[in-house]
Amino acid sequence: MASEYSPGLEGVMAGISGISEVDPIQNTLIYRGYDARELVEKCSFEEVAYLVLYGDLPTHTEYDAFTSRIKAQRDVPSSIYDLYRSFDNSAHPMDTLKAAVAVLAAQAKNASDISESASLAAAESLLAKIPTLVVNGYRVTHGDAPRPPSKELDHNQNFFYMLTGGEPNPMFNKALNATQILYIEHGFNASTFSSRVTVSTLADLYCGVVSAIGTLKGPLHGGANEHAMAMLLEIGTPERAEAWVDDALTNKKKIMGFGHREYKKGDSRAVIVKKHVQELSDALGNRKWIEISDIVEAKMLAAKNLYPNVDFPVASTYYLMDIPVELYTPMFVMSRVVGWSANIIEQLANNRIFRPQSEYNGPHDKKVTPLAARV
Ligand code: ACO
Repeated sequence: MASEYSPGLEGVMAGISGISEVDPIQNTLIYRGYDARELVEKCSFEEVAYLVLYGDLPTHTEYDAFTSRIKAQRDVPSSIYDLYRSFDNSAHPMDTLKAAVAVLAAQAKNASDISESASLAAAESLLAKIPTLVVNGYRVTHGDAPRPPSKELDHNQNFFYMLTGGEPNPMFNKALNATQILYIEHGFNASTFSSRVTVSTLADLYCGVVSAIGTLKGPLHGGANEHAMAMLLEIGTPERAEAWVDDALTNKKKIMGFGHREYKKGDSRAVIVKKHVQELSDALGNRKWIEISDIVEAKMLAAKNLYPNVDFPVASTYYLMDIPVELYTPMFVMSRVVGWSANIIEQLANNRIFRPQSEYNGPHDKKVTPLAARV
């Protein structure tokens, strides 16, 4: 049954899911029936991770058990750090993370088990270990000793503790909580789709997550957050912003952190994160990045009718919190691993292999000249 080709599968319904709803008309994002805006205000990252993985918000008992399981699984084998030390200095942290997750799969017992219980256990293990891999991967490749993760602190506090060794700043925790919740899940985005395609062959959750990490790395998807920061740094001052954007658009360059396949009137996640940029900028007395961002935003709206997506304000949020730029996309993985896992489990529960068609536009009727006669 042939259907009309849609480049980039735009407008193609590729599945049915009960995990999240992206509504570009209302400009809302729903996780398992709850508005993401309310979840950001009232819940911790762990509560929302549980919601997305298990289908509803945890009771107090379920929450305690879930967070205890996560905290207990944060350590990774020291052999992983030997692997990190063997990587080329120029390796991108998304590549080192992808390799480390593949190693965890090879070291896990029954990694190929695709039952729901095994998939949930693998998802929790990765949720616990990925922040350790992200921060200690950075530390080890920069010549520092790995720092053991905390067994007491929550997801956000543990991230800052591992990165700095110091007391977590409550304002930073609040901002990180918002970005990590808003990064958890977002319909059939490229990396989620990639994870579903991978497991639709009955490959396991680890394979799906490794595929998804590779897909998220690209600048048109998760890689946009670090590219957006690189752009803000290159612009450098508010006075240069308008001319910089003009020049980039004249040269047909994409402005990172703008536009979205689904949202045409703005990304609800970006609006929430921008409030944190404002709060952090005021509290830290550093309004440079928000001033540059406002000019770029106004220019993009006027010139291209394009709004910022979530990656644009996330870049300034993380920069204001002194987080190294090369960690921005790996930090996306710390959160999106939850959405990928939920999608993988949903896919496996009602699976049919993904196998679309392609229309051949190459030549026909060529005849083989024997190798000896080919020049
Ligand atoms: N800067 C400049 N022009 C843009 C941008 C942008 N950021 N985004 C879209 N456009 C223009 C395109 O050039 C195109 O113009 P044209 O019709 O004159 O050729 C038009 O808008 C449509 O753009 P497409 O790239 O065809 O839109 P698509 O839906 O395929 O892509 C995407 C969406 C990839 C997000 C795109 O907007 C983009 O490249 N943005 C920059 C990268 C980015 O921020 N990605 C993060 C997305 S959110 C996330 O993954 C978490």
